[in-house]
Amino acid sequence: KHPKIVVVGSINMDLVTETPRVPALGETVLGSRFSTLPGGKGANQAVACARLGAEVRMVGCVGDDSFGRELMENLRREGVCVDDVEPVTDVATGIASIVVESGDNSIIVVPGANHAVTVDKVRQAETVIQKADAILLQLEIPLESVAETVRIASRYNVPVIVNPAPATELSEDVLQKITILTPNEYELGILLGKHLEEAEEFKAVMAGYPGTIVMTKGEDGAYYSTGESSVAHQPGCKVEVVDTTGAGDTFNAALAVMIGRGYPLADAVRYAVAASALSVTKFGAQGGMPSHGQVEAFLQQLSK
Ligand code: RIB
Ligand code: NA
Repeated sequence: KHPKIVVVGSINMDLVTETPRVPALGETVLGSRFSTLPGGKGANQAVACARLGAEVRMVGCVGDDSFGRELMENLRREGVCVDDVEPVTDVATGIASIVVESGDNSIIVVPGANHAVTVDKVRQAETVIQKADAILLQLEIPLESVAETVRIASRYNVPVIVNPAPATELSEDVLQKITILTPNEYELGILLGKHLEEAEEFKAVMAGYPGTIVMTKGEDGAYYSTGESSVAHQPGCKVEVVDTTGAGDTFNAALAVMIGRGYPLADAVRYAVAASALSVTKFGAQGGMPSHGQVEAFLQQLSK
C-alpha cells in the first residue's frame, strides 16, 4: 500500500561546512569542505516518506529566489507533490547554517519564508489533510500553524505525528490531540518544562502521557509508550556514522509511513530505527535516506 502522507513544514537550503574543529566565539579555523544541500525538517521528512514508498504532499513556503526554485525542483524530482508549496515574495527561502565535525553537527536555522506557512495556508489545505493516512509535523513553521494542523487532523481522525524539533513547549490543548509525539530526550524535557535526568523519570512521564510518545535516543534506538503505563525499548543498529543530519527526519518519516500503512507501533518503531540508522551512513540530510527495499533488506540482515 502507498499511504497518503501530508507533511506540513519547513523547507530550507542547508549551507554545510565540514571542519576538523568547531571554532569558539571570536576564533577562526580552516574548514575542509562547503556544500549547499536541500534540507529543512519538513522537506526532509517529505523526501524520506517518498523514498519509502508513500504518496506525499508537502504544505510549505519558499522564497521567490534561486534557493527556492532549486528546493521545489528537488522535491519534484523526489516525487513529492508541491501543489501546496507556495513561493512568497519579499522574504528569502529558509536556510540552515550547519557545521559538521566528525559526523556530529550544530545548526542555526533562519526560517525566512517558512514563517509564511500561516494558519490560513493550513486551513486552505483542510481537504488535503482530511484525506491523508497520516500527517507529519515539526516545529520550524509558526506554532499556531502546527496547532491548527493538529486540530484539523484530529477533527477528521487522521493520525498526526509531531516531531517537536527544534525544542519548544507546546500547549496542553495541542499535546492532547497529537497521536504520536516523537521527541529526543532533550526535547521531551523542554516540552514538559522540566529537566529530566533519570531514565526512571522519563519512563514515568512517557507512561503517564495520554497519547503515544516515541522518544528517540540516537544510537541507543528508541523508547515508546505502550498504552499499558509501560515503556518498551527498540535497540539501535550499529552502523558507520558519516553524518547524523536528518536522522531524526528519516525516523519520523518512516514512522509515519508505517502508521499510514496500518502497522502496529512496535513494527513501525523497529522499521524507523533501521531507516534512520541507514540515513546516517551518507553525507547530507537527504543523502542516506533509504528506499523501502533497502530498509527491508537491512532488517532481514539484522534478524539473521
Ligand atoms: O533535521 C535536519 C534539518 O534541520 C536540516 O536539514 C536543517 O535544514 C534543519 O532544518
Ligand atoms: Na545522511
